[in-house]
Amino acid sequence: MDAIKNAIGENFGGKAQELSTHQFSLDDVPDLSGKVAVITGGSEGIGYGCTHTLLKNNIAKVYILSVSEDVVKGAKGVIAKEMGEDVANKTKWFNCDLSDWKKTKEVAEQIKKDTDRLDILINNAGRGIMVSSSTYQLTDYGVDRHMALNHMGHVILTSHLLPLMKETAEKGNVVRISNQASNAHQAAPSDTKFESLEELNQDLGPNGQYGRSKLAGILYARYFARKVTNAGHPNVLMNATHPGFVSTKMSKEDIHEPYPLAGYGMSVAMEPFKKDQFQGAVPTMYATTVTKESGKYYCPPAVPEPGSKLAQDDELADRLMELTRKVVMEKTKRDSADQGCPFDDLVLH
Ligand SMILES: NC(=O)c1ccc[n+]([C@@H]2O[C@H](COP(=O)([O-])OP(=O)(O)OC[C@H]3O[C@@H](n4cnc5c(N)ncnc54)[C@H](OP(=O)(O)O)[C@@H]3O)[C@@H](O)[C@H]2O)c1
Repeated sequence: MDAIKNAIGENFGGKAQELSTHQFSLDDVPDLSGKVAVITGGSEGIGYGCTHTLLKNNIAKVYILSVSEDVVKGAKGVIAKEMGEDVANKTKWFNCDLSDWKKTKEVAEQIKKDTDRLDILINNAGRGIMVSSSTYQLTDYGVDRHMALNHMGHVILTSHLLPLMKETAEKGNVVRISNQASNAHQAAPSDTKFESLEELNQDLGPNGQYGRSKLAGILYARYFARKVTNAGHPNVLMNATHPGFVSTKMSKEDIHEPYPLAGYGMSVAMEPFKKDQFQGAVPTMYATTVTKESGKYYCPPAVPEPGSKLAQDDELADRLMELTRKVVMEKTKRDSADQGCPFDDLVLH
């Protein structure tokens, strides 16, 4: 019975949320004075809900990584109006396309020069099921764009920021990282092995392509818990989250392209049941300001769920991270790996 209540509470807004066995709301977010955060995609949708909540709880600084400058300006304007110019000025934006791995590394290095601590990293930006150009695409590096952005870009960002996060933890703080996954990880093909680039670059269709990249976010958290948290860094935590079915650009507009008719019906018919972007921020806020655990997959509001069979497979997580290391090393050899991209921290031999 609890499983059914949680499933309803996890995915829908309004009263449905009160059914969940684990309660948590944005009102439970603690004071964050003095802390520093990095968030990808922090100016729109669920990411904006997170940025807003961090600022409301007195965080000292929020670095936002995204692509559209006008969206960032709009978000900053709204924050200034609501919380004041000084609060809005605690945000610092970096134009960073996470599928551009060289740029991602450069931005991480700039952040490390700009701050002497990092308490929160929110790996949130994503390419959805529904994108305005064709769903299946390869990046300039020749890698499936969903995996390249949703997973690998975030691994690169995290890897470069990890030394600073370890230092922050060693000074007596708890450092928390969250990966924005999804219950759509269940759409990853059951024969997913993460064995080769050829496998990654197969066209699986919109759900499979997106779902596999979200599976990667959950496996990465499990992997990180084993290889970092439980291997000498007990106060550096990483968890994955599912935000619920949230009303954002991704779920309202981008859905129409791969599924012109069904997508339209789904986005319109589901609208009254979707969570808003603040409700969608709840599991991430739990994972980045409260939890003491690492390697979990939290569904709304803060329910640790096992995820699919693939999401619980540690050997699959090992293969995913070996493949991530191999692909990124090969593709960025000259401009990243040879200049000290610290993958050894995350992928042990
Ligand atoms: N909405 C849902 O129901 C739902 C359900 C499960 C999981 N999720 C996950 O939640 C996360 C946020 O999604 P959302 O619904 O809030 O979508 P959204 O409103 O479309 O926001 C996506 C954010 O990602 C950024 N982004 C997109 N491509 C990027 C790139 N190449 N490099 C850097 N940033 C990029 C966007 O920045 P720009 O504005 O600059 O483009 C935007 O800030 C995603 O990871 C998504 O998969 C959403």
